[in-house]
Amino acid sequence: SNNEKEVVYTVRAQKGETEIFDGIKTKTYGYNGAFLGPVLRLSKGDTVKIRLINELDEVTTFHWHGLEVPGKVDGGPHTVIKPEEEEPIEFKVTQEASTLWFHPHPKGNTAEQVYNGLAGLIYIEDDNSKSLGLPNEYGENDIPLIFQDKTFDDEKQLNYSAAMNEDGTIGDTLLINGTLNPKLTVKKEKVRLRLLNGSNARNYTFKLNTGDSFVQVATDGGFLNKPVTLKELSLTPSERAEIIVDFSQLNTEKGLALINENESILLPFEVTDQRGEDSNLPGEMNNFSITEEEMNLPVTKKVEFFGMMDKVTINGKKFDAERIDFTQKQGVTEVWEIYNKPDAMGGMIHPVHIHGTQFKIISRNGEAPPENERGWKDSISLKPEERVKIAIQFKDKGVYMIHCHILEHEDNGMMAQIKVE
Ligand code: C2O
Ligand code: CU
Ligand code: CU
Repeated sequence: SNNEKEVVYTVRAQKGETEIFDGIKTKTYGYNGAFLGPVLRLSKGDTVKIRLINELDEVTTFHWHGLEVPGKVDGGPHTVIKPEEEEPIEFKVTQEASTLWFHPHPKGNTAEQVYNGLAGLIYIEDDNSKSLGLPNEYGENDIPLIFQDKTFDDEKQLNYSAAMNEDGTIGDTLLINGTLNPKLTVKKEKVRLRLLNGSNARNYTFKLNTGDSFVQVATDGGFLNKPVTLKELSLTPSERAEIIVDFSQLNTEKGLALINENESILLPFEVTDQRGEDSNLPGEMNNFSITEEEMNLPVTKKVEFFGMMDKVTINGKKFDAERIDFTQKQGVTEVWEIYNKPDAMGGMIHPVHIHGTQFKIISRNGEAPPENERGWKDSISLKPEERVKIAIQFKDKGVYMIHCHILEHEDNGMMAQIKVE
């Protein structure tokens, strides 16, 4: 069984300097360091105590994206920590193994703080994840990859306003785990890549340059029931996926890389001659299911995302911290319909995220979701005119956010509040 232990962390939001470009110090933000953050390792059943410390000159919050925790420790815009202040929080890990992340969420200033470097990962393990035999040597054959795009000024400083486009920041420089021009050296073996689209506004479609397939094993909030073979995989901001690439099976003669939709190289691989472990992929990984009852529930909430630039709304309104937009009973499953309403220009993709829960996608435009979305999700990409039904319940009480994870849309008010009581 999962042994219940107590895990204690201190997480400091701080300023620092990072050598992103050779010999140049770039001013950055980070958690427990100058840039990005540590991996917080949790296990299902743990009681977690975290000291949150704000060493910035501005207010911040500490939001645990994907964690099923009470609203008061979720780190939304209400739970502000002032400069020089600290706050202890405590919660229990009640959900299954998954790769989550954490980032700030202060009202109107989330995007720039994330852009400056505030983002870290959370790994949850459980009995199942330990028994599956998936690659799990951190940094060897189990690699986190945080994709973020930035724009730097002539002094090689992060320049938020220079990266600003109509619908959010689109940087001209890709960083992976905060590194410029990264290269990943791997053995001839199966390697697990934990992909996080940590960008403010950019979407990625991951492919191998050789056209070979890979398998997806996990969604935002847990393992898929079976590995899903894919040739490409799209992630909108805040979505995660764990994929396995089998480097023992790939032809490396012409070079190997993860590429984007437009064929641009995201991450080149160097495959050494060393043979690694010869592990088999598990056939069964999880018992995720949508019950008949959930399928047949009537829609009780309709949530309409509309607009572009700073004219973005949910159900026709902009965020108001004083207004509760939806209520739901703790532990009760409801079906929500989320709709991306196009405008005269056609509209755009909105990645819709809900705090404090992992939900199930019942349908996309009336049809079953693709195989690699039949697992726990906390963020879902909606194209213009798409209508998605989700089954959703909250294990805890409190006030939670639903918002577009284009962080500039979120800061511009494409966010609403759900009170769970
Ligand atoms: Cu990634 Cu409101 O959060
Ligand atoms: Cu979140
Ligand atoms: Cu949006």
